[in-house]
Amino acid sequence: MFELCASILAADFARLAEDVQAAEAAGADAFHIDIMDGHFVPAISFGNGMVGTMGRLTGKPLDVHLMVENPLDFLPELAELGVKRVSVHYEIPGGPEAALRAICAAGMQAGLVLNPETPVESALPYLAQISQLLLMTVHPGCGGQVYLPGSNEKIAAAKSLLQGQGSNTVIQVDGGITPGTLPGAYAAGARSIVAGSAVFYGNIYQNVCALRSEKAKP
Ligand code: DX5
Ligand code: ZN
Repeated sequence: MFELCASILAADFARLAEDVQAAEAAGADAFHIDIMDGHFVPAISFGNGMVGTMGRLTGKPLDVHLMVENPLDFLPELAELGVKRVSVHYEIPGGPEAALRAICAAGMQAGLVLNPETPVESALPYLAQISQLLLMTVHPGCGGQVYLPGSNEKIAAAKSLLQGQGSNTVIQVDGGITPGTLPGAYAAGARSIVAGSAVFYGNIYQNVCALRSEKAKP
């Protein structure tokens, strides 16, 4: 499998409908929505209201990345809005267990996010609950950063950990993905790719085509 998730954090909010339509027409498979609460990360992005807006703008799956301290506050509304997948951070206060359970109980797919400094083995206790392991390839909190060195090695380590456990959890990567970094991430085992600035800055159609055509190159 391969999926390209366009991260709307980098979209032009003054023309969100046009940007979303352009990404969809060019072949984006899903839209990634970064909710930040100003506590788990310093920035505040947008809340569940943006998820509702996106549900009206596209029929593509919505992939929500919660950079928040209290995911449980957001989950019931996200389920009502028809969100397909919600990812929560390993590093939240109290750990991700309760949130992962609530996501699954609400009929959504659960993702676990690991910050760059969090070892892949941290995911082990949660493998039965998660359909996606999101490896941050930048420090979370803003778009347009540079892909961190060592990310491909971490993806490969996650892949062998998952294989060793007989898990079919998909590895997603988020941060610093460009036509230059995507092939390495894909080759290491990432199959769901999040890209923000590399999709929405400049010509969206050409950007999406460039990312998609890079995936299988060595
Ligand atoms: C960063 C966010 C990302 C961000 C990626 O905290 O989680 O989803 O939008 O942006 P780019 O692709 O520009 O690095
Ligand atoms: Zn994200």
